[in-house]
This record gives sequence, structure tokens and C-alpha cells, in this order.
Amino acid sequence: MDSFIIEGGRPLKGAIRVGGSKNAALPILIATLLTDCPCEIDNVPNLRDIRTTFRLLESLGKRIEYDGDAVRVLATGRLETRAPYEIVKQMRASVLVAGPLLARFGTVRVPIPGGCAIGMRPIDIHLQGFRALGATEHEETGDVVMRAARLKGRRVRLRLPSVGATENLMMAACLASGLTVIANAAQEPEIEDLGAFLNRLGASVEGAGTATVTVRGGARLEGAVNSIPGRAPSRAALGRALPRGAVHAVIPDRIESGTLLIAAAATGGSVRLEGACAAHLEAVLESLEAAGSRVRAGYGFIDLSLASRPKAVGIRTLPYPGFPTDLQAPWMSLMCLARGTCLIRETVFENRFLHAAELVRMGAAVRLRGSTARVEGRPSLNGAPVMASDIRGGAALVVAALAAKGRTILQRVYHIDRGYERLEVRLRRLGASIRRVRR
Ligand code: UD1
Repeated sequence: MDSFIIEGGRPLKGAIRVGGSKNAALPILIATLLTDCPCEIDNVPNLRDIRTTFRLLESLGKRIEYDGDAVRVLATGRLETRAPYEIVKQMRASVLVAGPLLARFGTVRVPIPGGCAIGMRPIDIHLQGFRALGATEHEETGDVVMRAARLKGRRVRLRLPSVGATENLMMAACLASGLTVIANAAQEPEIEDLGAFLNRLGASVEGAGTATVTVRGGARLEGAVNSIPGRAPSRAALGRALPRGAVHAVIPDRIESGTLLIAAAATGGSVRLEGACAAHLEAVLESLEAAGSRVRAGYGFIDLSLASRPKAVGIRTLPYPGFPTDLQAPWMSLMCLARGTCLIRETVFENRFLHAAELVRMGAAVRLRGSTARVEGRPSLNGAPVMASDIRGGAALVVAALAAKGRTILQRVYHIDRGYERLEVRLRRLGASIRRVRR
């Protein structure tokens, strides 16, 4: 298992390019199960969760080719309708195969994901949505099996604006008969990106990225004529069946962007993020400014600098466009160094404060009470041996270690690798002292 060795206390300085969004790429790759036409997805980050998604798609019968950040998903023949437990247990987002497979083949079998480090994370909202579209379900040895001759479009109101349930239902509704309206839908930019990809496949999705998503279903999705990735149709092909396909570039990763900005602020640094989208980060940029950072954003870049100690700024995580739960942990690391005391409230997930105990090992003053953390800022943190227990909590420990005095040995880096591409290499380009050791 790899560890990071970080010598803290060096301000991050310089420019860095932000990668494609993991949470947008995952459902878009999975949405290729709706079609047999070739799809090219560009700006896909090279991450563990993405490689897990490749294995998932391959296990279901797709072929994957990739070249740098461009990924092609191709049909090989019949698709399986059963997702393997070995893959679902590694990555909960695997349940997103349920919507496309159920809608396309009338049946799907998916292992029920167990609890995970950041709470129970049930899938009842997904199931309630499929039921509303006419599916029946039963459990069989830890799997949920769903069936429907043909899903029927309907109005579905989600109990909570779940990101995954919104995506799963949007994909299923593309092949349902008639109109589906998803009310109280999640509004994250990744959902808007999925809607754009589905429309490139030939679907009719409106309102993705708002609280009401409308999908007009159709019999099949075949992409668009003349969109075969990478090559124009040959003369011979013209006049016969025209080749069809879909090409799409994934949006920049707002969580990676936010993490890097928070790290720059925590180290008293000055960075430029290239290729980042400020419009997707409003709540975070506002909080960074309130903490004393100077933020300047333009088309395709965000600049941030912070010369003094941050001011204490409390946050409450909320569904988009509120402060993202995925940046709560890095924010806590920044606040551990703030002038003053603040409250951090986690309202999206239960049990998402696992990083707090590790921060305390580094000299932070954090007290937990239910879903609220009270963080009393200290002038400095100290390096210590610590352990990552989830993706974002792990990233928070990197932020704290970069700002701390002395050496931190951060274990279980594989959690961080699920969501950040070669984080140590990229941070070194910004002047950090961080290296990976294999143990
Ligand atoms: C996605 C993101 C994750 C992010 C989260 C919230 C991906 C791959 N992951 O996760 O990084 O932290 O959105 O922004 O995009 N819930 C239920 N029943 C359900 C579904 C969800 O009770 O059927 C609850 C969850 O337990 C959680 C809350 O709703 O407390 C939000 O979950 P959801 O929005 O579904 O998150 P994910 O799609 O799993």
C-alpha cells in the first residue's frame, strides 16, 4: 500500500491544469450501455474509479480503447445484465448500470451496495424511481433484481435530490415510452454534462442541471450520423448505412479544482488553475474570499492567493449550488489554521468527519457533535503519521500536511488515487515536497 511523505511549510506557487471531472465521466461512460454506437469520451481523468468503470463495462460486454484522456467505448455483441459484486463493492457508482440496462433489456441484477466509510448510502431513491416507471423488484442473495417489459414515462418526485438517482432515472427514461419528469432532481453540473452526452446520443433531455428534468423517451439511441469517433466515413460507407456515433468532452473537475485552491490558501500560496470553471465553484470561491483570499477568475482559469493566515469562515454543506460535501474535509483542514473559531455542518452525508480525528493528531482543535464540527484555528499544525479513510478525507490530510510544520507520513493513499490523478506529481510542480513510497 502506497504512502505519501510530505514535508510541509512550502507555499504552493505556479500554474496547474485541472483534469476532467471524475463524477461526470463515470455516469457518461456508463450511459454508453444505452447504445451500440461507438462513443468517444474526451477529457477523462486517469483515476482508479475510472479504471474500475472500464472493468465494469468490459465485464458487461463493452470494449474499451484509450489514448491519453480520450476513451472509446465500443460494442462487441450482446451485453450482460448482471453487474459483478467484486466491482460494485469497490465503487458504489456501479449501481448506475441499473437504469440503462433495465430500460434497454427489461431486466437487470445489481448487488446492493453495502455501507461505506461515509455512511449507509442506501439506494432507495433509485429504486423508488424505477418502480414509478413500472419496474418490479425483488431481492436475491444480496442482489436486487428488477424487471419491466418496457418502462413507462411518468412524473417522479425524488425524496431527496440524490445525484446518483437523478442520473440513473435520466438514463432509464431515455428508453422509456413517453415523457418522464424528474422533480426535485439534483442540480449538479455533472448532471448537466450527462444530459448533454445523452442528447449527443440522440436522446431528448431538457432541464438537466435544474430541479426539473424532462426526458422524452424513444425506442433506441444511435448517436448522430457522421460522428464516428476519430474518422470521417469512407466513400464506400457513404450511400450505404451511414456510420453513427457520439463524441463528448467531459467538464473540468470542480472538486479537484476546489481542493487545489484550498491547498494553495492553506499554504499561503499563489496559484493559477488552468482549464477550471469558476461558475461551478461559486459557493467555494465566496468562502475562500471571505477567508481573506484574493480570487480572480476568467474564461478557463482561476487565480488565488492568500498571504496571511485565513479568517475563520463556517460552512454548511448542501446539494449544488450550495457548498459541496466533497470539499467539506479540505475546508476543515484550512479552518484548522484560521484566525478564530467556526462551525462546519455536514448535511448531505452522515458520518463524514473521519478526517477530524487524524487532523487532531496533527495538532488541530476540532470538536465533533453530531453533524457539526467546531474548529478552533491554531497558528500551525504539526506533521504526524496519519491515515486516509476516504477520497476527500484523504485529500484534506494532504492539504493539512502541505501546510504543517515538519514531516507527515500519510498512509492508504489508494483512497486518494480513486479521485485525484497523480496528485503528488502535480503538487510537486507547484513547489510542494511530497513523494510516494511503496510499502
Ligand atoms: C455523488 C458523488 C459524490 C458526492 C455526492 C453528493 C458521484 C460518483 N459521487 O454521490 O462524490 O459526495 O454525489 O454530492 O457522482 N441517499 C439516499 N437514498 C438513495 C440515494 C441517496 O438516502 O437512494 C442519500 C445518501 O445516503 C446521501 C445523500 O442522499 O446521504 C446524497 O447522496 P447522492 O446525492 O445520491 O450521492 P451519490 O450519487 O452517491
